[in-house]
Amino acid sequence: MSGPFDDIANTVFADKAVLTESYHPETILERDEEIEAYSHALQDVLFGREPENIFVYGKAGLGKTAVTRYIIDELQKETETRPDADDLHIHTINCNGRTLFVILRTLVNDLLPEHASRFPKRGLGTGDAFDELYRQFDRIGGTHLAVFDEIDHLEDADTLLYELPRARSNGHVSNAKLGVIGISNDYTFRRTLSPKVKDTLMETEISFGPYDAKELRTILGHRAESAFVEGACDESAIAKAAALAAQDMGNARQALDLLRVGAELAERNGEMPVTDGHVETAREQVQRGRLENKIRDQTEHGQYILEAIANLQSRGAVPARSKEIQRTYEEVADAHAASPLSTLKSIQDHLSDLHMLGFLRRHGRNEGLSGGQYYEYELDLDPTIVLETRAEITAHTE
Ligand SMILES: Nc1ncnc2c1ncn2[C@@H]1O[C@H](COP(=O)(O)OP(=O)(O)O)[C@@H](O)[C@H]1O
Ligand SMILES: [Mg+2]
Repeated sequence: MSGPFDDIANTVFADKAVLTESYHPETILERDEEIEAYSHALQDVLFGREPENIFVYGKAGLGKTAVTRYIIDELQKETETRPDADDLHIHTINCNGRTLFVILRTLVNDLLPEHASRFPKRGLGTGDAFDELYRQFDRIGGTHLAVFDEIDHLEDADTLLYELPRARSNGHVSNAKLGVIGISNDYTFRRTLSPKVKDTLMETEISFGPYDAKELRTILGHRAESAFVEGACDESAIAKAAALAAQDMGNARQALDLLRVGAELAERNGEMPVTDGHVETAREQVQRGRLENKIRDQTEHGQYILEAIANLQSRGAVPARSKEIQRTYEEVADAHAASPLSTLKSIQDHLSDLHMLGFLRRHGRNEGLSGGQYYEYELDLDPTIVLETRAEITAHTE
């Protein structure tokens, strides 16, 4: 009797994991300048001095997280051989989808002794969490580097970035040295910070620019060596994935996705080797797949708001204030025969959630004393994807 898997005999992959998001490369290519800037900024740690605070920025997929992980690992190894260096403790937190309180609680729990009870989820506030954090820093001593990745998604980044770098000078911590590394996908995030915070955090700024096609080819080529069975991936596939990603945003994550999905396609069709044609076919699937899923995961009203901003964006009416978004949102909800949320506050809550999840870009505006402070929003993705995904969803539900 034949089974459903009988026909599946050949694979193009020797180690597919190498092409996935969760893989951590041991070799970083084409980022020598950034690595050098990073090691200069962190060299104080080797001599037992307080580290500089570092702000790293650049669009998504440009290697910020990978380079940071690499440099931190190297620093950790190096400090162990340096007599002047204090014990180094690294705390890495991704801020996407987390509140300040959750971040502080995570940090505290990371530091508490094993047998101690965890910091409570309820009942205590941010101030208590800071106090406990400082107590733990002092108890443990040494040098602590706190890495806040995707910090542009944190609502209250200003408080965090004000407090931590000043913990020593403000007398909250005396027995430990602290350094902060903030990583942002959004350069305009800086504008939302108060001037004092900017000064301290920007002691060292490291910017990550887009990769060009040649650089992406090098990165992909290196991965392909271990990802594919000998001869299973044509050079043209690597060149294509690199070229497409370079044309777009110079995004290495996208280049890797294109190659992986192209290879999956070739494998499914029983076609070897993987060629540029497979990558080309994979292109649309890659761009859409992720976003569609993310959009589908949103609540009904979250999706109406996204649709409203996509409409505004198609008319060139962004960045837009929450009030304008609310008006368009009401039209969208009407069109779907739903009753809209009535308060501006509820729209603003949705906007801040959507921003935190990476759908929106937010620009802080300040109109001086009279106008006060407010935010303007725009989509951080192609509006047609939102509109088409929404059209597909409504075609199935209405
Ligand atoms: N210079 C590089 N060398 C090797 N791999 C890289 C490089 N830059 C990016 N990558 C890979 O591309 C993907 C996206 O990189 P990542 O560091 O997550 O980007 P970012 O944090 O800037 O969004 C990851 O899988 C990462 O391993
Ligand atoms: Mg990252």
